[in-house]
Amino acid sequence: NWNMENFIADQVELIRRQVGDRNVLLALSGGVDSSVVAALLIKAIGKQLTCVHVNHGLLRKGEPEQVVQVFRDQMDANLIYVDAVDRFLDKLAGVAEPEQKRKIIGAEFIRVFEEEARKLEGIDFLAQGTIYPDIIESGTKTAKAVKAHHNVGGLPEDLKFELVEPLKMLFKDEVRACGAALGLPDSMVYRQPFPGPGLGVRCLGAITRDRLEAVRASDAILREEFAAAGLDGKVWQYFTVVPDFKSVGVRDNKRTFDWPVILRAVNTVDAMTATVEDVPFPLLQKITARITAEVEGVNRVLYDLTPKPTGTIEWE
Ligand code: XMP
Repeated sequence: NWNMENFIADQVELIRRQVGDRNVLLALSGGVDSSVVAALLIKAIGKQLTCVHVNHGLLRKGEPEQVVQVFRDQMDANLIYVDAVDRFLDKLAGVAEPEQKRKIIGAEFIRVFEEEARKLEGIDFLAQGTIYPDIIESGTKTAKAVKAHHNVGGLPEDLKFELVEPLKMLFKDEVRACGAALGLPDSMVYRQPFPGPGLGVRCLGAITRDRLEAVRASDAILREEFAAAGLDGKVWQYFTVVPDFKSVGVRDNKRTFDWPVILRAVNTVDAMTATVEDVPFPLLQKITARITAEVEGVNRVLYDLTPKPTGTIEWE
């Protein structure tokens, strides 16, 4: 009979049989799928797994720290933390076209991962967080981008590994249940969807460090307030966007010329269409007050009322 305990026990056995005494490499983004694969492999083969976490500077506040804390400190995993922030931001400097930004982020990710893989010796396997919807081609951008970012196909010929894909028969809710059963924190297992290019597609146009920090700080406030209001488990996806124009405002009787922050909160079943969450007005007002008070360089907050279509969920 199928239950999560049996699934985990079976997979641990299968992984041990496949890998033997050899070594496995994993690109650990901190997203649900790669985190659950990591936890499963740590249980099965411990230090025979090496995780590489690439911090591209486009992650949400606290995410890289959580990856280190959960996997290195708590689970005692082999974790290589790569601070590639400057490298990504330098590559992205001046690039405003959204698809171009995505391509640069994806290509640079492969390059950084490849460099780390080459430094290691005696690796035979690459673990991947492929899940069932990735295989049946759901057609969502999420599935495609996961492949573009982490698929072995992106690595050069001389770096081809055998694949370990223990989640490939699971649906997303089963992956989450598996992660919870393996002891991963709820904040990691039940997190909202987050695009591979991360905050890069929410810092509109050419990314600058000041606007990127405004996206990250405002996103953290939005998440905090949604959690406090009990909306975090209810709304499918919610985030902030910072456009590349300024507007005039006033603060302490002085003229300001600063960025706006756009709030977005949507519900969807399959990400192909989406409706806007009817966020209580007092909560919007509270979030506005906090963002304009706490986030540097921001003087206005807007709420995006557009369903998909005609908008997409993300702004880029
Ligand atoms: P859109 O903006 O197309 O987004 O309505 C639909 C869902 O896909 C996510 N998304 C991405 N995920 N890489 C990803 O891994 C991407 O480049 C990407 N773009 C959008 C988006 O967050 C939403 O959940």
